[in-house]
Amino acid sequence: MTSSDTEQTIRLRVHRGCARSGSTLQEYAIPGTAAASLLDGLRWVRAHVDDTLAFRYACINANACKECMVRLDGKTVYACLARLEPGHTYEIGPLPNKPLVRDLVTDIAPAKERLLDLSGSREGGEGEDEA
Ligand code: FES
Repeated sequence: MTSSDTEQTIRLRVHRGCARSGSTLQEYAIPGTAAASLLDGLRWVRAHVDDTLAFRYACINANACKECMVRLDGKTVYACLARLEPGHTYEIGPLPNKPLVRDLVTDIAPAKERLLDLSGSREGGEGEDEA
């Protein structure tokens, strides 16, 4: 890799894992031209490097579904709106105030809309999403 390549590379340090296994950071290097948005970058990683990376989205850059929320360098963002710059390193994590499913996927459904478990109680407990 030349210094020019390094200047054009975007590095994503992504929190991987689930609530049971704990979290580890995994770094992915992607071409600067492959990702204008964080969602573009995550999709590039899944298509070209690691198809096990879990993240959620539905509308792809239309900002309509609101399912792509993650933490980017400590701030909550919509991955489809967050812009990436070549030559930078970013840390991406799941939403901290929602139950972690895996990697960047959290359970964002309101408690009243979650499926009932076999005992008849809602997962996540009463009033979890009420503020
Ligand atoms: S992908 Fe739908 S709002 Fe971001």
